[in-house]
Amino acid sequence: MRQILVTSALPYANGHIHIGHLVEYMQTDIWVRFQKLRGRRCVYLCADDTHGTAIMIRARQEGIREEQLIAEMREAHMADFAGFQIAFDNYGSTNSPETRAMCEEIWASLRRAELVVEQEVVQLYDTAAGTFLADRFVKGSCPKCQSPNQYGDSCDRCGAHYSPADLIDPVSTLSGSKPELRKADHLFVHIEKLHDFLEDWTQHGEHLQPEVANYLAGHFLCEPLHDWDVSRPAPYFGFEIPDSPGNYWYVWFDAPIGYMGSTRQWCDRHGESFDDWWRSDQTEIHHFIGKDITYFHTLFWPAMLQTAGFRLPTKVHIHGFLTVNGEKMSKSKGTFIRASTYLEHLDPAYLRYYYASKLTARVDDIDLNFDELIAKVNADMVGNVVNLASRVAKFAEPTGLSSAYPDDDGLFAQAAADGQAIAEAYESGDYAKAIRWILAAGDRANQFIEHNAPWTLRKDPSQCERLRDVCTIGLNLFRQLVIYLSPVLPRLAEQAGELLHDPIACWDQSQRPLLGTPVGKFSHLMQRVDPQRIEAVVAASAQPAESPAAETLPMDSDAPLQAEPLSETIHFEQFAKVDLRVARVLQAEDVPGAQKLLRLTLSLGGDNHRNVFAGIKGVYQPENLIGRLVICAANLAPRKMKFGTSEGMIVAAGGGGGEIYLLSPDSGAKPGQRVH
Ligand code: 2FM
Ligand code: ZN
Repeated sequence: MRQILVTSALPYANGHIHIGHLVEYMQTDIWVRFQKLRGRRCVYLCADDTHGTAIMIRARQEGIREEQLIAEMREAHMADFAGFQIAFDNYGSTNSPETRAMCEEIWASLRRAELVVEQEVVQLYDTAAGTFLADRFVKGSCPKCQSPNQYGDSCDRCGAHYSPADLIDPVSTLSGSKPELRKADHLFVHIEKLHDFLEDWTQHGEHLQPEVANYLAGHFLCEPLHDWDVSRPAPYFGFEIPDSPGNYWYVWFDAPIGYMGSTRQWCDRHGESFDDWWRSDQTEIHHFIGKDITYFHTLFWPAMLQTAGFRLPTKVHIHGFLTVNGEKMSKSKGTFIRASTYLEHLDPAYLRYYYASKLTARVDDIDLNFDELIAKVNADMVGNVVNLASRVAKFAEPTGLSSAYPDDDGLFAQAAADGQAIAEAYESGDYAKAIRWILAAGDRANQFIEHNAPWTLRKDPSQCERLRDVCTIGLNLFRQLVIYLSPVLPRLAEQAGELLHDPIACWDQSQRPLLGTPVGKFSHLMQRVDPQRIEAVVAASAQPAESPAAETLPMDSDAPLQAEPLSETIHFEQFAKVDLRVARVLQAEDVPGAQKLLRLTLSLGGDNHRNVFAGIKGVYQPENLIGRLVICAANLAPRKMKFGTSEGMIVAAGGGGGEIYLLSPDSGAKPGQRVH
């Protein structure tokens, strides 16, 4: 029997759960529920990530102790998770005795392996606030592209990573004062010593998705690994390092160890042995995380586990970011939606189903489009799956199910056989595929009901046996779908279990029809999505714009779209003549005197730069373009213009009248790649 330990990333205790977080918790919860349904021993663990400067500062600002802040946030997080039916087996905290003990154990192993080295670090210090500044608490201009208002660690315009000490004109976001440079001794883990091990672990053995393994090979493992700074001097909210008084473990040192602390709590409660889960080769360990924290989980964490003699993750499942209606979640647009706000207005099942229908085993970002959510839930869940039950349940209530399974033209057997493919899709993380299979079975079942018209049979007393048989078939096909969907829609599974007096508890129930049981009173299992409720969520989430620049992108318009006639047909050879390339915007600036033009400097990879004039002034702010990827027609003959020569064109959608939407590739594309 497989024994599987599963984790989701630990949410920070300094903020609320939002719909972006929920992608991962739902993704993990579905996988765990699937494993349990298949009869595996599976434990799902999580915890709050409680340490670090951000929490210390927030507690200070609110005039409370960190412990109080953590306790309050824990309540809120747990309520949100419960509301979305995320069913952890234990929800711990990194600020727990169990996590501290594990930190000490792993630290001692790192020391024994002589991996800990001391180095002097120059860091920005806020004299007004009396604290060193974590990267997120200092802002200034990017040392590479000069964009203003960038955080201390990386530039969200050009993507550069740098040390906060290199920021131009740094300002502390805590006090608004200019920080000074101060020296302190920090402790580092010399993980280069584990380079060969990490090369092997990341590149062989299917622990990572192929694109992740390639990313690590191309970005980190191709050169010596940098020592990892794991200590912070006081004041810092965290665990003091036992053999280095006045220094604390950096939040990212103890965060993954929180997985173990949470396991320990679960083991203690259930009389289980911790080592059976973390030291045994018989156990699988699966971490689900977002792509932004890849290197902590795929380099540092395996290095720590290996050094301390724990078992290594079987797989790190990495997902992309969430966008909403094609854009980053935005507080001003009301798309930065807290879990609790959503729950006040909408059924959690909608979002569970929608995310599941979009999730695959790849790292791609996923987009939440409200119109698509409405369409999918209404068509697939309400119109297909639930509809099946609503068409027959009430006719079966007086009689219950037949005692022998009638001839259904092989539909039940076919969907039972599909179970194999559906299970494989869940197992591999391709929930979108599992759902396609399930919906196809639902379509066939609905056709059967349509064809056999129980509503007509009901009117003819001589057909009462047939009516019972048709309802037995309809309800069994419905139940089969619900069993397959139960990892995604646990509430629907409960309701179906109540309706048919047979709780859904294991996958194999999908392989045998249910016979001879009573049928309960049918009540609505799922309502259609009311678009007004979505509007209410967006309205409740909207906050005044933080920066006017964020509001300058074109807004959605309600004007009906005039379909523009298609151009004349061309042959593939003609299309292929246009050499479209991915390009990164290196510079963007106003062209004085030009009404519509911005001058862009594009990188097509390597040293291949282009000067392009684009008619997007007023729609896009130059500073918002720097660093982003666009698509460039790269083999256009250069065109002399009043302001200079344009050496290409960037591609945008829009129907004139000032509407312009630049096209960009999905994340992962690189400048210079050809667009086919
Ligand atoms: O990125 C984050 O939100 C972190 N709090 C995740 C920690 S995951 C694990 F390592 F604890
Ligand atoms: Zn920059």
